[in-house]
Amino acid sequence: MGNTFSMRAGTLVIVAVMLVLSCQNNRESVLRAQIDSLRAQQASAYKPGLGEFMNGIQVHHAKLWFAGKAQNWELADFEIKEIKEALDDIRLYCADRPEVKSLPMLLPVVDSLSSIISRHDTAGFHKQFTALTITCNNCHQVTDHGFNKIIIPTTPPLSNQDFSNQK
Ligand code: HEC
Repeated sequence: MGNTFSMRAGTLVIVAVMLVLSCQNNRESVLRAQIDSLRAQQASAYKPGLGEFMNGIQVHHAKLWFAGKAQNWELADFEIKEIKEALDDIRLYCADRPEVKSLPMLLPVVDSLSSIISRHDTAGFHKQFTALTITCNNCHQVTDHGFNKIIIPTTPPLSNQDFSNQK
């Protein structure tokens, strides 16, 4: 009697262990399927390219010029920050592009223009904006994109924005 009881108890323990193990297996395979599906989604996720970031930077570069010229320092500060953000994004999203290792040449120029803007220094702005534009082209040269020549713009990039100081 005692023997049959302990045999039954033993069987119950084995069945319980098997149940727990099979549940774990199931949960693992569900998780594995979820990871696989996330990996597939990530691989096909849209990632902006270097040229797209450059197009954005081109517009901010032009707007920055007209903002600074109009002594609209708030807008100038906004535009230089947009350029900085785009540079951060390039390092994040375009790390596979070998040209990105030349990007640091722009950073000190952008930082110095940033502090000129915060000092509302009009003469300094004109000088440093020229330095910025030269550096854009220097990087295009060293990365075999010298045919993309950036200049100081002569007309605002868009007609639906007023660059004058609103204060
Ligand atoms: C890392 C060095 C580097 C710096 C610094 C740089 N560029 Fe570029 N730029 C490139 C490369 C590389 C391309 C080509 C991207 C591509 O393959 O589409 C490019 C392309 C461009 C294009 C062409 C985009 C198009 O599709 O027509 C413009 C406009 C541009 N850059 C503007 C600028 C401006 C403005 C600055 C400065 C504020 C600047 N770039 C600074 C490397 C640089």
